[in-house]
Amino acid sequence: MIENQFIMIKPNAIKRGLIGNIIEKYEKKGLKIIALKLIQMKASQARALYKEHENKDFYQSLIDFVLSGPVIVMIVQGPNAVQAVRTLNGATNPLEADGGSIRGQLGLTITKNIVHASDSVENAKKEWKIFFDDQEIINYTLPYEN
Ligand code: CMP
Repeated sequence: MIENQFIMIKPNAIKRGLIGNIIEKYEKKGLKIIALKLIQMKASQARALYKEHENKDFYQSLIDFVLSGPVIVMIVQGPNAVQAVRTLNGATNPLEADGGSIRGQLGLTITKNIVHASDSVENAKKEWKIFFDDQEIINYTLPYEN
C-alpha cells in the first residue's frame, strides 16, 4: 500500500548540521520526498502537532524545544511509508532505539530525539495539514520506484 508519511527534523538536529545525513537515510530507503521546507514553527502549529500530549508533564518543555529554532517538515511517499519511517527513526527514547536507527545513532535524550514522524496514515494527514497546503505537495515519478 502506497502511503504518505509526515516527518519533522527537530531543532537540535538542524543546529548540529545533520539535515543532509538524516534526509539521505529516507532517500536511500527508497522513499520519495513529495514536500519539504525549512520553517520556524509558530506556537499554534506546535500546539496542534502535539495536542495529544497537552496534559503530560513534559508538554511545555516539548513545545519550547520545537520552537527553539528552525525545523524541517517533509512528506515522504512509498510502500508502507508510515512504518518504514518509524523503523528507520527507531524508538522514541534514543537510549532504547536500535543502534542502527536515526535516533539510536544520533540522539541522547527523549526530548531532543532528532526526528518526529506520525504513528498512522490518518495522523500523518492531520499533521502535514498543519504545515502544508495541498498545492505544496508535488506528484512526480522517480526513474526507479519501489
Ligand atoms: P515525538 O515523536 O516528537 O512525539 C512526541 C514527543 O514527546 C516525543 O517524540 C518525545 O520527544 C517527547 N516525549 C515523549 N515521552 C516523553 C517523556 N516521557 N519525557 C519527555 N519527552 C517525551
